[in-house]
Amino acid sequence: MRVTGARRKLLRQASGGPPWPQTSRTPTHSPDRSAGNMTTVAIIGAHGKVGRRLVRLLAQRGDKAIGIVRRAEQVGAIAELGGTGVLLDIESAAVEELAEALAGADAIAFSAGAGAGSGPVRKRTVDYGGSVLTQAAAPLAGVRRFIQVSGMGVDDPVAPDAGDWAAYVRAKSDADRRLRSSGLQWTILRPGALTDAPGSGRVRLAKSTGPGSVSRDDVAALIAACLDDPASAGHQWEVREGSAPVAQAVSEQSRTTGSAS
Ligand SMILES: NC(=O)c1ccc[n+]([C@@H]2O[C@H](COP(=O)([O-])OP(=O)(O)OC[C@H]3O[C@@H](n4cnc5c(N)ncnc54)[C@H](OP(=O)(O)O)[C@@H]3O)[C@@H](O)[C@H]2O)c1
Repeated sequence: MRVTGARRKLLRQASGGPPWPQTSRTPTHSPDRSAGNMTTVAIIGAHGKVGRRLVRLLAQRGDKAIGIVRRAEQVGAIAELGGTGVLLDIESAAVEELAEALAGADAIAFSAGAGAGSGPVRKRTVDYGGSVLTQAAAPLAGVRRFIQVSGMGVDDPVAPDAGDWAAYVRAKSDADRRLRSSGLQWTILRPGALTDAPGSGRVRLAKSTGPGSVSRDDVAALIAACLDDPASAGHQWEVREGSAPVAQAVSEQSRTTGSAS
């Protein structure tokens, strides 16, 4: 871990200066694997069902995945997929600890979630709090690119007595709003219901897609395609199964839909 770099950023911020110039939203960094360059991606929620698929996909194509996990036994699982596991609980870590874990990354993929049956408190501490903590840690670690897995329709009105669902959509919606105003180079992906069906490599990607489901394989592929396409920064899309090849969908939507901010 390049702790020194993270500490340097901390010192810059403590001295009153921003950790990076905040004027441009267009990433200058675009991975160039053809030249043998490797992109390092830190994945929050790396042991999750989308996270594990993303670790494997990145490793297969020659990128480096730093997989943030919350249980010691998950570190080995990330190594088996070709990544590097780092043990850190985003509900209890200090921002400086997370920044140290992120140091050296070119981009962050946030795919953590409290999960079904976790209750409203953990929706807030993981889906919202974990994202906000990561958004604060990113600049301290010198990372500007941030891809967040959110959920379809989370800005839609919901009955206050909808229990866990109300807490879930509020947490996701609030986390997305914070990310859009973070100054980071964000992309927000809002999938419909996730399935474990084999990916088709094809999706429908749009500001609003209408309801539908999408395989976790295709969501992982979509995250990877966004990492490859700097023009996807500043966009928020829903995604469900569809007919457009993933990279083509990202390219077309990046160039035809307006920014969400
Ligand atoms: N399920 C759906 O239909 C659906 C639809 C749209 C969007 N989403 C969102 O899509 C994302 C990915 O979904 P998924 O199926 O991959 O979810 P998942 O399998 O539940 O993965 C979430 C990961 O977050 C980790 N996590 C939870 N609390 C943590 C903490 N305190 N510190 C560090 N890591 C923590 C979990 O760790 P453990 O493995 O230890 O539990 C898990 O590995 C989630 O944000 C989810 O909300 C889901």
